[in-house]
Amino acid sequence: MLNDFNPYLHGLYAPVNEEVSAEKLEVIGEIPRDLHGGYFRNGPNPKTPPKGMHHWFDGDGMIHGIWFEDGAARYRNRFIQTRDLEANGNGALAGIFEPARDVANRSVHYKDTANTDLVFHNGRLLALWYISGQPVAVDAQTLETIGVESFDGRLPHNISAHSKVDPVTGEFVFFDYALYEPKMWTGAVSAVGEMTYFQEIDLPGPRLPHDMGMTENYVILHDLPVVFTDAAIRNRMWQIHVADQPTRFGVVPRTGGGPKWFEFPTCYVYHVINSWEEGDEIVMAACKMAPNGFEPDAKYGPYAAMADVLALRAQPFLWRMNMKTGEGREQQIDDALSEFPVVNNDLAGRKTKYSYHVVFDDCIEQRFSALLKYDLKTGKSTRHDFPDGVYGSEPVFAPKEYSACEDDGYLITFTADMNGNSEAHIIDAQNFTTPPLARIRLPQRVPAGFHGTWAAGV
Ligand SMILES: [Fe+2]
Repeated sequence: MLNDFNPYLHGLYAPVNEEVSAEKLEVIGEIPRDLHGGYFRNGPNPKTPPKGMHHWFDGDGMIHGIWFEDGAARYRNRFIQTRDLEANGNGALAGIFEPARDVANRSVHYKDTANTDLVFHNGRLLALWYISGQPVAVDAQTLETIGVESFDGRLPHNISAHSKVDPVTGEFVFFDYALYEPKMWTGAVSAVGEMTYFQEIDLPGPRLPHDMGMTENYVILHDLPVVFTDAAIRNRMWQIHVADQPTRFGVVPRTGGGPKWFEFPTCYVYHVINSWEEGDEIVMAACKMAPNGFEPDAKYGPYAAMADVLALRAQPFLWRMNMKTGEGREQQIDDALSEFPVVNNDLAGRKTKYSYHVVFDDCIEQRFSALLKYDLKTGKSTRHDFPDGVYGSEPVFAPKEYSACEDDGYLITFTADMNGNSEAHIIDAQNFTTPPLARIRLPQRVPAGFHGTWAAGV
């Protein structure tokens, strides 16, 4: 059977069916008493067994959340009730292995799952999708879906995953792209939910970026050499084309104008580490894709190419863009392989010294076997290994209550083993190599997934 070949439906990735609520979880060690807030992680979780070819990115969005207060923890998981999940009882909507629906109108419509990313803005979670999705508001206490967020009907476009919240102004700074149109869009919503800015950016052709940079005054849009061909549009999105052209980053003022484009040697970037301003320079730290070292493995049958592409490997780089001279410089931070980078989000858009990355097991399937803590200036890192046979998720950084410096806080992640057990681990960010301060046993397995966020005080 087709699903048997798909490694992203089994083991660490097998979906869970139950929506669980659990209080007073068993703790090994001690939850720091100053830790008050929620760690939320989004990911794909097919609600029903896929009928045709199924890509890992297609699964219905599910959020797993753990809340900490007064040294105790509670857990919940809930499906994100997107409009397409509700409408798709008969499986009418396509995943990315299939032709998009509504091609005649050049209006791509894959099943919008909101399964990719989460931000915390204006007191609620927003679940975001990587292909120009409808942002879905989710209650940060219950994980119940509130509904598609249109910001009082003023949102003029969909929004991509990896849009960001400015920790100082509370603004939601977003971007979007389109599979057919040679354009990107960027805009902002105030801390209390009012649309304040929106701009359309022209491109040489339709592009597939994945992330953007945000500084205090700018966003950095990615014009990467992954482009959509007519064949991809007619047949299936997965037939993307890697073009022989440079990578460009476009620096756009957050109040409109621009962009100012900077060209660099060709590369693809999934995830930005952080971006900031230094004098005349805009600096973006990100993970630049490197060859993963694997070949498609026939044991995955029709999913061999998918598994190979998903064996994500990258190296941390800095790109410096001088707004006065127009010069750009690329600088490698380290040659070790890692991805899924996060920082202390209280410093998103500001210069950060530290970042935290995921290290993969040496196998074609994505297994997060360790975390790296980088000093971005020196390129030196320290490593936190999960126990043998235990794998983590993208972590979040949660600052201590009276945090004294950038890394004065905790890394929190979900783990899972091959026997179906999951825990949440709380790691002291300043004593990174030591065992977790606390391991919290969860009532069910948390499947491997995508991105998350920390929300203080919820
Ligand atoms: Fe992502």
